[in-house]
Amino acid sequence: MTYLYSIGEVIVFLALSIFAIVESIVKTFIPNKYKMKSISGEIALVTGGGGGLGRLLSLRLSKLGAIVIVWDINESGIQETVKLVQAAGGTCYGYVCDLCDREDIYKKANIIKEEIGKVTILINNAGVVTGLRLMDTPDKLIIRTMDVNIMSHFWTAKAFLPTMMENNKGHIVSIASLAGQCGVSKLVDYCASKFAAVGFDEALRMELEYEGYDINTTVVCPYFIRSTGMFDDVQSRYVPTLSPNDVADRIITAMRCNEKYAIIPGYMRILLILKWLFPWACSAMFLRGLVRDAAPASQRQSCAATTASDCNVPSKDQNGATIHQQLARRVSSSERKP
Ligand SMILES: NC(=O)c1ccc[n+]([C@@H]2O[C@H](COP(=O)([O-])OP(=O)(O)OC[C@H]3O[C@@H](n4cnc5c(N)ncnc54)[C@H](O)[C@@H]3O)[C@@H](O)[C@H]2O)c1
Repeated sequence: MTYLYSIGEVIVFLALSIFAIVESIVKTFIPNKYKMKSISGEIALVTGGGGGLGRLLSLRLSKLGAIVIVWDINESGIQETVKLVQAAGGTCYGYVCDLCDREDIYKKANIIKEEIGKVTILINNAGVVTGLRLMDTPDKLIIRTMDVNIMSHFWTAKAFLPTMMENNKGHIVSIASLAGQCGVSKLVDYCASKFAAVGFDEALRMELEYEGYDINTTVVCPYFIRSTGMFDDVQSRYVPTLSPNDVADRIITAMRCNEKYAIIPGYMRILLILKWLFPWACSAMFLRGLVRDAAPASQRQSCAATTASDCNVPSKDQNGATIHQQLARRVSSSERKP
């Protein structure tokens, strides 16, 4: 009986897999405009929206009719994003929120729920890079990388998932990196945090699907992007660095089409498959040839002194409060920038 049951299970698995493959092939031939969902009227939160990719995403979300909320530690960056979105006719609210501070995340999430409404699109975009050899990286910077690039994903998800679950509607986008698929020298903490972001997305998706929720997740793995500040001076050979506008467009399309993975550029998928097929020596040679030095020179200089303040780590005042916390407290709900 058990034997027959197992055979039945395998047949069902094969039939459903064939259906999923055919469905996926058919979908690739359907133009995106017919597959994209509307996000008009939805509330979208973009972490790290005070600059770089986060700002570009905010502008695109508002253009599509979403109400945008940006979180960042960079107050002037937030103001600039809010101004740009408003000038384009959109609605945007900005909050100073330090993603290294779990309590600040929960506090700002509650303020948003009370004053703006239910977040249905969460884009965990904020990220930091140190760019030093592991043994040269101060512990504080490793903790900062993990806090911003991955731990904050747990806290924002825990803050906003309950209302998404109540309404059985929502989308969580994790901006990881191709450095979340391949290890890179001088990016040990960064790669570890991005591999974790990929795992976070996949495990959360499995959990939500298993429990029957219609809540989508998308993980985004871009190659190096030029002009956002993070990896500006990286010299890439063979594979051109990406335009931030193209990456932002691709992320929005992936989210609107409910894609699970967005590898940017798409052809890098082939290289990821090859990574598991060829011996490690080939992968290592290829990666070393692709990017000789992935450590951003700007970060190296600013971190050379290896003090917390030089590396933009929240520093402590005489009372032990972090400067980021003080800044966050200054922008109370009534002071938010609509
Ligand atoms: N730039 C690239 O080449 C590249 C490549 C792949 C993936 N990514 C990822 O894309 C995302 C966006 O990167 P970007 O290039 O726009 O970088 P960016 O440095 O231009 O922007 C990052 C934003 O995060 C904010 N931030 C940093 N620490 C914070 C904290 N503690 N609390 C709140 N906000 C904080 C910064 O103020 C900044 O506005 C990141 O997750 C990054 O890892 C970037």
